[in-house]
Amino acid sequence: MPSSAIGLALPLLPVNFRGMNLEDHVGDIIRKARAMSNVAAEAAAKAAGLTEAELATWEETGKTTQKPNLAALAELVGLHPSKLEAIANGWLPSTKDLSAWRELRCLTTTAGGMAVNCYLVWDEVSREAALFDTGWEAGPVAELIAQEQLQLRHVFITHAHEDHVAALGAIREKFPKVRLHSGSKSAPVDQRNRPNDFIHLGNLRITHRDTPGHAEDGTTYIIGNWPDDAPHVAIVGDAIFAGSIGRGNQSWDLARQKLREQVFTLPPETLLCPGHGPLTTVAEEKAHNPFF
Ligand SMILES: [Fe+2]
Repeated sequence: MPSSAIGLALPLLPVNFRGMNLEDHVGDIIRKARAMSNVAAEAAAKAAGLTEAELATWEETGKTTQKPNLAALAELVGLHPSKLEAIANGWLPSTKDLSAWRELRCLTTTAGGMAVNCYLVWDEVSREAALFDTGWEAGPVAELIAQEQLQLRHVFITHAHEDHVAALGAIREKFPKVRLHSGSKSAPVDQRNRPNDFIHLGNLRITHRDTPGHAEDGTTYIIGNWPDDAPHVAIVGDAIFAGSIGRGNQSWDLARQKLREQVFTLPPETLLCPGHGPLTTVAEEKAHNPFF
């Protein structure tokens, strides 16, 4: 029986509780944008009106004692000036109340100081569940599955970076019947996403869009047909963060192009669930992400 049915469930805490920081502070964003635009520290410091040492501290900590020329720096490194300024002034996405989606949970695990989000989704009636990435450890996922009496049917991988798949072996050991889905060309054929895949999870519907750039196998999974017409949910991995994007390990241009084509074309109210940092929406990122 779901715990809520016996009246003992604790109130759901909004995931990005007050005070949760962005994954990337303003310094991280500037460092990424310099890499994206091939701008040396010397030129960036000059545009910002800082010394190289001051720029280095700012990039490292997100804090600076000087008032940098954000507009000139933004233009040089290809960021949107007023969006960058809003982030420097503390912009955060609105707090999301996940109880609007039945059911969706964010589980955050940490190893070596690095936190990563994974997401468990289930149909409230059939109790069929899907896990999106695994995080560092299987324990919290397995506990929630047991507590809610779910059958884990699928594991969807946004990309195979270690923090996102570290617990995959343990999950498959605990749930040997689980079906794996991935965008990796080296995955066994029966685990590879195909263009028009359409997965049913009780009444919920799961599709995917390719979002490479941060990783070659980068995939965004879209969950729709929620009870009470709750907005679509997109599990984006490291393609986009609230106020930033994942490092363009494969290609910065491709990363931004795919975000424009595959993520920003989703309905504005679509909930974006990143691998790191707080939850956001398509509308919030269009209005506030300085990489666009
Ligand atoms: Fe990653």
